[in-house]
Amino acid sequence: MRATSSLTMQKNNSATCCVPRRQFSSSSKSSLSSKNHHHRRRHGMTRVVPKAVANTANLPSENKDVKVLVVGATGYIGKFVTNELCSQGYDVTAYVRPRSGIGGKNTEADAKKLFTNAKVEFGTCGSMEDVEKNAFKDGGEKYDVVVSCLASRTGGVKDSWDVDYQATKNVLDVARKNGTKKFVLLSAICVQKPLLTFQKAKLKFEEELEKCEDISYSIVRPTAFFKSLAGQVESVQKGGPYVMFGDGQLASCKPISERDLAKYMAECIRDASLENKVLPIGGPGKALSALEQGTMLFELLEMEPKFVKVPIEIMDTVIKVLDFFAGFFGNMTDAAEFGKIGRYYAAESMLVMDEKTGEYKADETPSYGTDTLRDFFKKVSVEGLAGQELGDQAVFK
Ligand SMILES: NC(=O)c1ccc[n+]([C@@H]2O[C@H](COP(=O)([O-])OP(=O)(O)OC[C@H]3O[C@@H](n4cnc5c(N)ncnc54)[C@H](OP(=O)(O)O)[C@@H]3O)[C@@H](O)[C@H]2O)c1
Repeated sequence: MRATSSLTMQKNNSATCCVPRRQFSSSSKSSLSSKNHHHRRRHGMTRVVPKAVANTANLPSENKDVKVLVVGATGYIGKFVTNELCSQGYDVTAYVRPRSGIGGKNTEADAKKLFTNAKVEFGTCGSMEDVEKNAFKDGGEKYDVVVSCLASRTGGVKDSWDVDYQATKNVLDVARKNGTKKFVLLSAICVQKPLLTFQKAKLKFEEELEKCEDISYSIVRPTAFFKSLAGQVESVQKGGPYVMFGDGQLASCKPISERDLAKYMAECIRDASLENKVLPIGGPGKALSALEQGTMLFELLEMEPKFVKVPIEIMDTVIKVLDFFAGFFGNMTDAAEFGKIGRYYAAESMLVMDEKTGEYKADETPSYGTDTLRDFFKKVSVEGLAGQELGDQAVFK
């Protein structure tokens, strides 16, 4: 395909859509002409990183012959990804902790019930040895593709480094040792402006993955998930106000459903145009601010709009206090981090950011899929939030 600008539009067979992709070269020409390197701009700097091999073409032609290992399979997105891959006929193994799910409430038997069409292996990602022994059966089990939906469940400082970086790295290292061809990573669009620990941990992993010359990758950076925006549906239904920061227009996002995101991640396995790319991705329709989300909610509930606008400065004060105490009491470090996470999502858009100006660009944020936030709000207003719990996450992660 010929790239005509820094943003190219690509026809996609499944679902609705066009998938715009960012070319990371400083010019589209160089990204197409360079065989061994691609230029990548990040934080306003141009880095040159080795170009990983292209492996899509080398996968077995039938999905049933492609062995896929999913880590983080028991998470909100991981569950959908695992079952989507099964429904597409891949030979899927879910690698799961012995106690999994929110608060570790699921037993091994519970986990097996989640994935009736996948093999389920149990172990941790805490060390390479554990991954090697339990997921790769000491080298006796090989996987063509690894899909990682691993993420810290809390967003806390130590847990982020342990999971978003180290556990994911353990899996990558064992996968490379065992000849895995491709690594599909669930990341987050917000790592483009990394102010929070979990973003820094994810970015460090992304950078190391991109440098690997023996395994190809797709780094999927979604915008907001539906679950992260549904928290106020029930309280509004009960007559409460819709609470937002500032004028409700400080930040916008293009929310994507777990089902659409799972399909997109599955496409990364076969679609050569998604290989060795960082892929920001949002759902269908226009970008929505908090004010627009709230207005939509009142409209579909046929209720008179009632908003509470909280000055963002309140959060800054809370963060300062928490940071102060974190300086004395180590156990306050995560509380301060959670305050910063809340502040970040109140003020930063989940859209592609122009690296030169720092401006968020709705038009440059690719859309994918068919599920809309409006339909999701309608569903939650009827069925409640079952299955959409934020779980151990203290704040929107
Ligand atoms: N929320 C949003 O709107 C949003 C938007 C864009 C991107 N994202 C990103 O999407 C990613 C996934 O989100 P999610 O909501 O699907 O996550 P999640 O529900 O919290 O799931 C996390 C997964 O990682 C596993 N995990 C956590 N700690 C582990 C550890 N120490 N060892 C092994 N496995 C561990 C969990 O296993 P257990 O079941 O055993 O705990 C679970 O399978 C995150 O990176 C997030 O930043 C989120």
